[in-house]
Parts: sequence; C-alpha cells; structure tokens
Amino acid sequence: MTSRPIGIFDSGVGGLSVLRAIHSLLPGQQTIYLADQAHVPYGPRPLDEVRAFSEVITQFLLGKGAGLIVVACNTASAAALHALRQSRPEIPFVGMEPAVKPAAESTHTGMVGILATPATFQGALYASVVERFAHGVTLLQSTCPGLVTQIEKGLLDHPETDAILHEAIDPMLAAGIDTIVLGCTHYPFVIPQIRKVAGEQVRVIDPAPAIARQAARLLAEYGWLADPLLTTDNRYYTTGDTRRFDKLAQQLLGVDIQSHPAQWAGPAGDLKIY
Ligand code: DGL
Repeated sequence: MTSRPIGIFDSGVGGLSVLRAIHSLLPGQQTIYLADQAHVPYGPRPLDEVRAFSEVITQFLLGKGAGLIVVACNTASAAALHALRQSRPEIPFVGMEPAVKPAAESTHTGMVGILATPATFQGALYASVVERFAHGVTLLQSTCPGLVTQIEKGLLDHPETDAILHEAIDPMLAAGIDTIVLGCTHYPFVIPQIRKVAGEQVRVIDPAPAIARQAARLLAEYGWLADPLLTTDNRYYTTGDTRRFDKLAQQLLGVDIQSHPAQWAGPAGDLKIY
C-alpha cells in the first residue's frame, strides 16, 4: 500500500495545534493544511454557513490528493462532521469534540470549565457529548469572546488576551473547577497564559495528541501510513494573506513555512476554492 497525505483544515491557525501533534507522532506523513482565514472566526457564524465552507474545503483537500481528512476545528466539526461523513462514506474523517469524557473521568471537584466557540456550544455534537459523559459533573462554559481574533493576530502575551482569559476563567475558579477543556483548536497556543490565570493545579486538556493518535489508527487501518524516515513536502494554503499566515505560523510553531494562496470564488451557494 502507498501512503496518502492527511488533509487538515481550520478557520485559521488553530488547526496548527493539531498539525503539530500529527507531525510529532507521524513524521514522514505528508500533510496538506488549509486555513480559511478569509472567514475567520467561524465561532460566531451560523452552523449552516460553516457547514457550506467545510464541504468546499474538504473537496479542495481531496482534490489535492488527501486520503484522510482531519477537521481540526471544533466549530467546523460541530457544523459539518456528520454531513461530511454522510456525503462521503468512502473517506475517513477525524473530527474534534470537546474532551468532556476525560475531564469527567479525572475531575475531583466535579466542576469542569469548557472553553469553546458559540457555534460549538450550539451544535448537536456538544449536546451529545454532555449527555453521554457529563454525569454528576457540572460544566461551566465560556465562549471567550475575542480570543480567537487575538491569537490570529499573534497577540498571545498581551493585556487584552489576559483580560479575556480572566473574564472567562475567574468565575470558573471561584466555582471550584479543577479542569479546563480546550474546546477550540486555537486555544492550545495560549496554554501558558491560561496557566498563569488558572494556576498550576488546574488540569488543562488539549485534545490534539488524542486526535493525532486517532488519525494514525485510521491511516494504519487503510494502509496509508508513511515511512517515518521520509522527508515530506508539507503544503499549506490560506484563503487569507500568505505572508501574514507564514509569519504567524513561524511564531506559533517555530518553523519556516511558505504557504500558497487559495481563493474563494463563485456565487453564494456555489462556492469553490481555487
Ligand atoms: N479553531 C476553531 C475551533 O476549534 C475555530 C475558531 C473560530 O474560528 O471561531 O473551534
């Protein structure tokens, strides 16, 4: 069997937190990443709109040769994962859902904080995760308004970022949480800032390593795993500004990336990316 690349997408640079985990678990596996920065943030948008974006992006990544698709965005997973799996049963998908299960299993206080976007909290996926796993546990939710935009601007160590985190986390701490679930793939990039606000005792759950393991399991099942010793030509696309993406990716991942432009075109309802 020959290896197949992994297609990964997000509204912006958030999915790079998942890509980083995939690269560290599966060196040699080629990845094709698309950041839909023309539309970031996804969180405040209607689920239907995010689903439409996700369908077109998936088609774009498959067209570039991706075998497996990682929806490295909780919001897009909430909006589109079910529909994507239904419309393309032959394609393996890995999606994100807030890690309520491990949080509920490990909390001692029974109080868990969840940070995610408004669309993620509205989706059926979140409701089903809560129903299945949150028995006897109180979940305190925050949408952290403005946090994704701060991260997209590279303003990690910034007073406004700290203020957003305090506003989200302080009431959770007062209520006695001992666990915070990162339900948005942008947020792992501010884990040091979250720790500063929450303290070292609070457990912060970043689902990226578990997502990478799931991708590896599926690749193995399909016979698409690459030789880990191979050097790969990973590709990056953004529907936003390539220079801005490259600079931010360098800041977040510490590697030099030269992304390619991808362009939305066509009338609403018949969008395509080129
Ligand atoms: N990184 C995304 C998520 O995991 C989307 C954030 C946004 O664009 O609002 O939800």
